Amino acid sequence: AEHMETNSRETLKADFDAFDISEELGFLLEEPLTSLPDYYRVWLDLANNLTHLIESHTLRDLVHKMPVLSPDFLIDHRELRLAHLVLGFISMGYVWQEGQHAPAQILPKALALPYWLVSRRLGLPPILTYADSVLANWKLKDPTGDMEIGNMDLIVSFPGGESCRGFFMVSLLVEMAASSGITVKKLFLFLDHVDPTAFHGTLRIFVSGWRDNPMLPRGLLYEGVSNEPILLSGGSAAQSSTIQCFDMLLMNESLFVHLVSVLFIDSAYLGSFLTRMREYMPPAHRQLIETLSVCPSLRDFILSHSSSDLCQAYKSCVSALVDLRNYHLNTVAKYVVVPGNHARAMGCPLRGVGTALNETGTGGSSLMVFLKSVRNTTQKALILERPSASKETEM
Ligand code: HEM
Ligand SMILES: *[C@@H]1O[C@H](CO)[C@@H](O)[C@H](O)[C@H]1NC(C)=O
Ligand SMILES: *[C@@H]1O[C@H](CO)[C@@H](O)[C@H](O)[C@H]1NC(C)=O
Ligand SMILES: *[C@@H]1O[C@H](CO)[C@@H](O)[C@H](O)[C@H]1NC(C)=O
Repeated sequence: AEHMETNSRETLKADFDAFDISEELGFLLEEPLTSLPDYYRVWLDLANNLTHLIESHTLRDLVHKMPVLSPDFLIDHRELRLAHLVLGFISMGYVWQEGQHAPAQILPKALALPYWLVSRRLGLPPILTYADSVLANWKLKDPTGDMEIGNMDLIVSFPGGESCRGFFMVSLLVEMAASSGITVKKLFLFLDHVDPTAFHGTLRIFVSGWRDNPMLPRGLLYEGVSNEPILLSGGSAAQSSTIQCFDMLLMNESLFVHLVSVLFIDSAYLGSFLTRMREYMPPAHRQLIETLSVCPSLRDFILSHSSSDLCQAYKSCVSALVDLRNYHLNTVAKYVVVPGNHARAMGCPLRGVGTALNETGTGGSSLMVFLKSVRNTTQKALILERPSASKETEM
């Protein structure tokens, strides 16, 4: 038995490595680097001073003076991830420095070309993703100390002070909790540090992309890369592999995608939204979700074994996901819908800004309908019906 256990641990370790996940930290990047070879100093100088450079409206000028650096001296995965992170933050700052009404239409070659090449090597799109701003954007204040929230900080931030920090930190905590099991409510308490007005008015714009965004309807031109503008969505926790893995484990994909598209009005666009967000995940993480989606379904297994212990365990997992999505719905109302309505009433609509989903002037209602339909779909998985002729519901 001991031999078998060693064997299965080794297999598990090999699986973790293949999908680029860590036993302790899940999808978080382990020990992210905070510096690059000296040749890239100009990138780090801009990224480390980003808030100041945006607020003083000097970032664009400095980018225009930047040399076109070759990414060939970046060797290992963590160097590439840090390069993708800093180029992402600088690009967002560059595009949105003058606010939502005056985005840059062209990303200069000194940013666009190395960013595109680094992205291609990582299999990530050339835009700031959740894999950058959350998974690879953390450091320990005291490097000899523990990995607990008081000892953790972001590597790169946007304007917005504590609200910016709190916004990214809460997602970081969710990712940490996914491997250790802190409760949902306790986690979201961290949002007490995120002021809805600061979030909506300041931070949101810097995570906005150039797809379904009326401010950049044709996308962004990456100079030196392509002659046509490119359309890419902004960063969002919808790009979290953790939540999609839970979905795949607990509900099989066909059930999930089918229910979302039946429940949602504009199914062609939105039913595919969560699937499209996988293109913004590191390829190894995306691969895990795809592998889970074709594995024999856990749900079917539970249905075929009438064990009430198994059913109970299954239901408490699904309930936790429903709770998370309910809590999240309130969060989106507080941070997106309410301040959005307020801004509209003041005559300054923020349409399409800061969400990967387009709200297209509906006051965020399609956004809420979407999130509710995902929640409702999760809730339906609580009903365990036998696949046989008998239609009785097992409780
Ligand atoms: C202030 C905090 C937050 C705000 C304002 C917010 C906002 C949003 C918005 C607007 C969407 C719709 C998709 C999009 O437009 O990108 C979304 C989706 C999503 N968010 Fe958040 N979010 C917040 C925090 C979180 C956290 C901490 C998590 C946990 C990891 C999370 C997980 C998700 C997931 C998984 C989706 C996809 C829909 C689903 O699977 O239910 N969000 N969020
Ligand atoms: C940030 O930039 C400002 C203005 O260019 C400069 O005064 C300041 O010293 C810089 N700070 C850092 C940490 O580089
Ligand atoms: C979102 O935008 C796309 C194209 O910009 C449009 O075709 C689609 O109808 C919009 N969807 C919603 C729900 O507004
Ligand atoms: C979700 O379910 C609730 C209550 O069960 C219902 O009122 C609501 O209309 C449903 N929403 C969607 C988008 O399916």
